[in-house]
Order: sequence, then structure tokens, then C-alpha cells
Amino acid sequence: MKRVLGFAAGFVALAGAVVAQSPGQGGSAPAFTLPTDSRTAIELPADVRSFFRYEMRGHLEQLDTLLARLSEGDFKAAAAFARDGLAVMGKHPPGAPHPGQFMPSEFRAMGQVMHQAAAEVAKTADAASQPPSSADWQAVMGAVSKLTATCAGCHGMFRIK
Ligand code: HEC
Repeated sequence: MKRVLGFAAGFVALAGAVVAQSPGQGGSAPAFTLPTDSRTAIELPADVRSFFRYEMRGHLEQLDTLLARLSEGDFKAAAAFARDGLAVMGKHPPGAPHPGQFMPSEFRAMGQVMHQAAAEVAKTADAASQPPSSADWQAVMGAVSKLTATCAGCHGMFRIK
């Protein structure tokens, strides 16, 4: 347990935060202090903000489905799903707001990288043999990891308000 706490504390320290001391045996825990939030805040009108969050939840659902298809070993279905979903740029339902018009160019560029990373997942999954070899699995998981890195990268840089 001590080692786990030590690791967590080291991790938080690395993130540049002030580390709240771990509670001693039987002591009461001090209030948790969030690390300094250095993300750039993007201001959005309320309806655009709600739509943006809705779209993001859609991204997570799509990632979840993509991983489900891959875990079934159905790389063709996974490829088609990624190509028609996360790889598509700016596909909004008719009449929906376009959050992109409120975003700084750096944000839009990161969004584009996410769509490209999803297209790369599709390409890699399509190139796999059936059943996929261990090298195919490794290549596809590498592409998925690059995709999720784009989610995490943008989340680390921006927030909305
Ligand atoms: C270009 C930037 C960007 C990319 C890429 C991105 N996101 Fe987001 N996402 C955001 C921002 C900004 C928020 C709002 C965070 C905040 O205000 O605290 C957000 C919020 C979310 C939320 C919370 C939604 C809610 O209802 O509050 C989920 C879930 C999410 N993203 C999933 C994903 C997933 C999964 C991916 C990758 C497949 C992804 N995002 C890629 C910028 C991005």
C-alpha cells in the first residue's frame, strides 16, 4: 500500500502539483488539492457547449464500439466502423451547431489529427490477415494507442466554459 501511495505521490509531483501528504494510520485525510489547471479555456455559447459535450460522449461510445469489434477479432468490421465514424471530419446532424467555428486553430488541428489517427486505425485493421496474426494485433493496437493519445492530448490542453 505504501508503495502504491508513493508511486501516486511521485506521479502527482511529476505533474507539477503540490502533493498533499498521504494520511497516516488512523489519521484523517487532508483535503485533496487539484493540480494546477493549465488548460486553455474556450468559451462557447450554452447550446454549442451542450452539443460539443454530446459529440464528445459520442466519441467515447464510438471508441468503445471500435474496441469491442477489435476484441472480437473482427478487424474488417472494426475498420469499417472507424472509417465511417471517428475518421469522419465535421459530420454534424442537420441543423446542429458547428463548434469548430468557435475553436482556436490549434484545437481544430488537434481534432484533425484525431480523425487522421482513426483513419489510420481503419487502414491498419483492413490490412490485417484473417484471422489476424500477432503482428496484426500489435499493429492495430499501436494505431489505437495513437488514436487515444490524441483524445488525451487535447483533453490535457483545452477545456470549455
Ligand atoms: C481537439 C480536442 C479534443 C479531442 C481530439 C478529443 N476531445 Fe474530448 N473533449 C475535449 C474538450 C475541450 C472537452 C471538455 C473538457 C472540459 O471542459 O473539462 C472534452 C470532453 C470530452 C468528454 C466529456 C463529455 C461531457 O459530457 O462532459 C468525453 C467523454 C470526451 N471528451 C471523449 C473523447 C474521446 C473518447 C476522444 C478521442 C476519441 C476525444 N474526446 C477527443 C476536446 C477534445
